Amino acid sequence: MFVLAPSILSLLIFLIAFSASSKLFSFDGAPGESQVSRGLYLAKVAGCISCHTDTVNNSNILGGGREIKSPYGSFFSPNITPDLKNGIGNWTNKDFIKAVRYGIRPKGGFYYPVFPYTSYKSMSDRDILDIKSWIEAQKPLSEPNKPHQISFPASWRNMLGPWRWLFFDEESTRFDFLPDNLARGAYLVEALGHCGECHTPRNMFGAQKSKKLLAGSRYGPSGNLMPNISPDKITGIGKWTESELVFFLKTGLKPNGDYVNNEMAEIIQNSLQHLSDYDIRSISSYLNRIKPFYNNVRVRPKNMSIEQTIENWWD
Ligand code: HEC
Ligand code: HEC
Repeated sequence: MFVLAPSILSLLIFLIAFSASSKLFSFDGAPGESQVSRGLYLAKVAGCISCHTDTVNNSNILGGGREIKSPYGSFFSPNITPDLKNGIGNWTNKDFIKAVRYGIRPKGGFYYPVFPYTSYKSMSDRDILDIKSWIEAQKPLSEPNKPHQISFPASWRNMLGPWRWLFFDEESTRFDFLPDNLARGAYLVEALGHCGECHTPRNMFGAQKSKKLLAGSRYGPSGNLMPNISPDKITGIGKWTESELVFFLKTGLKPNGDYVNNEMAEIIQNSLQHLSDYDIRSISSYLNRIKPFYNNVRVRPKNMSIEQTIENWWD
């Protein structure tokens, strides 16, 4: 597809060493008594369970093999059960934190950002390790990993080095300057819930345009339309009342009476409907406070100028 050609350019930039160091504030992530029950809550919100379980073929939980479509081809999530051979049973806590927060593989090299560590980089150690405790309490499965079916040059893992150098800032985003419920909402939206992975438009190299947070995109990662969920009154969800948004996040029913479809239906079913009231309200308060961005993704723009086209690709 057209996104591929320019991505060859990014290949030409040479591999740069990547250092993983970051200061994190600790966030008390989830309600619950034990590490394992907090871990389950967090694994649901973060989508770890849905993305690592191949429900289409009725596979067992966390066994991987789920197809994730992208402009580069299909990725298949790996087995992350505690199996010693084909899962992550022999991983240390450090290995797990490095993978989830920085996208670094235990034996060196990087993960594709389809595993949304670009958002998880702002998760706290405690939350990441609680998820690990819950994973360790699951049944090990010996399912081998399926190879990704992606085209060159994306299939060349080494290109992730330059890509990250250009587009991945390992520094976690700080939310602690916000009042409590907004900080919690920001953490849920930007880190755990990784809403921006779909709702924030991307440049031609597949990196999120951070200035257009949640402003939607005509073609999301899977090719589907991703609505503008910034609080713009005309093109976003600025006209939804707080209770409409809360109701939507719990049920998938929009203020106009339609049910939401595609990826979002799954996110509500597997993740958002399990959230506490406080967490859902925090998400809706935060969405209300971000910068409204006029971006009409439902209408194709007529004749963009060259400047607009370049801006659209790059910025
Ligand atoms: C959108 C789908 C998606 C979501 C959500 C997701 N992952 Fe993944 N994950 C992947 C894919 C795809 C890979 C493989 C990436 C690669 O090959 O570079 C992966 C890789 C991993 C790995 C490395 C496994 C190995 O064998 O090297 C771990 C560990 C992991 N994910 C844990 C998690 C956890 C924990 C969460 C939730 C916090 C999570 N994932 C959420 C898709 C996802
Ligand atoms: C995997 C991609 C993906 C992720 C992650 C995602 N969404 Fe969505 N979202 C969609 C798609 C696709 C739609 C449109 C579905 C449709 O066409 O009915 C949508 C629709 C919505 C809508 C309805 C907007 C409208 O105008 O109809 C809201 C609100 C929303 N998402 C909020 C969120 C929030 C909050 C998060 C994070 C907790 C999130 N989404 C994460 C893909 C995603």
